Amino acid sequence: MPAQWRRATPALMSTDLADRLAKVAAATEAGLEALLTDMSGTAERLVSAMRYALLGSGKRLRPFLVVETAALFGVTSERSLRTGLALECIHGYSLVHDDLPCMDDDDVRRGRPTVHIAFDEATAVLVGDALQSLAFEILASEDTDPDPAVRNRLVADLARAAGAAGMVGGQMLDLTAEGRFTADGQPLAMSAEAILGLQALKTGALFRFAIEAGALLGRATATEAHALGIYARLLGRAFQIADDLLDREGDARTVGKKTGKDAHAGKATLVGLLGVAQARAQLNEMVAEAQAALDLFGRRADTLRAAVAYVALRTT
Ligand code: IPE
Ligand code: IPE
Ligand code: MG
Ligand code: MG
Ligand code: MG
Repeated sequence: MPAQWRRATPALMSTDLADRLAKVAAATEAGLEALLTDMSGTAERLVSAMRYALLGSGKRLRPFLVVETAALFGVTSERSLRTGLALECIHGYSLVHDDLPCMDDDDVRRGRPTVHIAFDEATAVLVGDALQSLAFEILASEDTDPDPAVRNRLVADLARAAGAAGMVGGQMLDLTAEGRFTADGQPLAMSAEAILGLQALKTGALFRFAIEAGALLGRATATEAHALGIYARLLGRAFQIADDLLDREGDARTVGKKTGKDAHAGKATLVGLLGVAQARAQLNEMVAEAQAALDLFGRRADTLRAAVAYVALRTT
């Protein structure tokens, strides 16, 4: 079990959740390793930077949510993991680009130098581009799901979640809110609703995809998919508020990235708008609501219930 899980176990999660997360994290690592090994021999510098970006660390929360949601419907992880790998490629690309000097300008990620520091900026841009293509190549393969209609839907849904109507659009709003594109460079005043809307795109969209893809792989009914959609939106929100709290209060060495940067950069966050105590209170409400959204699944959804609590209380 990776050290980060062991550290988090006693206070934050049951042994069962820790074990399941560790299993999916290990399978994700192995799956990504195999995909990247297949690419060796082409553009060596690019592939080694892709390996650096993707392997060795990361909580692997998004693949975990794909696998656990699909498992509600009896789908094995052997079957659902590929969709998780595709999503992890998009996530990895989003992090590499997010850290670039023209974006958040960060030099530490997952406890080590960011890709543009360890390699160079052009390589980091290309790593992101290549990981994005790889994600869709994975989804398009028959190994992902035998039904071409399901594969088609996964491709279309991930494209939407990652693009202008999802993560990339949210990243644009995030930078705009910093006041970068105005003459005075002052952060824009945003309401809580506007911040939640921005975050639903920049971070929420990929979490929603994780859970909706799990439902799709499991052939969920409309009622089941609807309940999971509510859970997914709340989990995505909770995740980003927790990330913003970690930036404000976390320990940089544990978090694995520099902290205290959001206020300085003028980022629009709920923590900045409402303060730590109120943001945390809202976070707790979101967790309870997300857990309640899973009522129709009974005890089968206990892992997903535990997962949203972990996402909110995590220290990494
Ligand atoms: C960090 O995501 C970036 C955000 C979307 C806020 P994670 O906290 O899931 O990062 P890793 O993959 O575990 O490093
Ligand atoms: C990044 O949000 C979200 C994406 C990468 C899409 P942040 O900028 O808050 O993430 P960290 O804090 O750098 O991980
Ligand atoms: Mg950012
Ligand atoms: Mg950032
Ligand atoms: Mg952050």
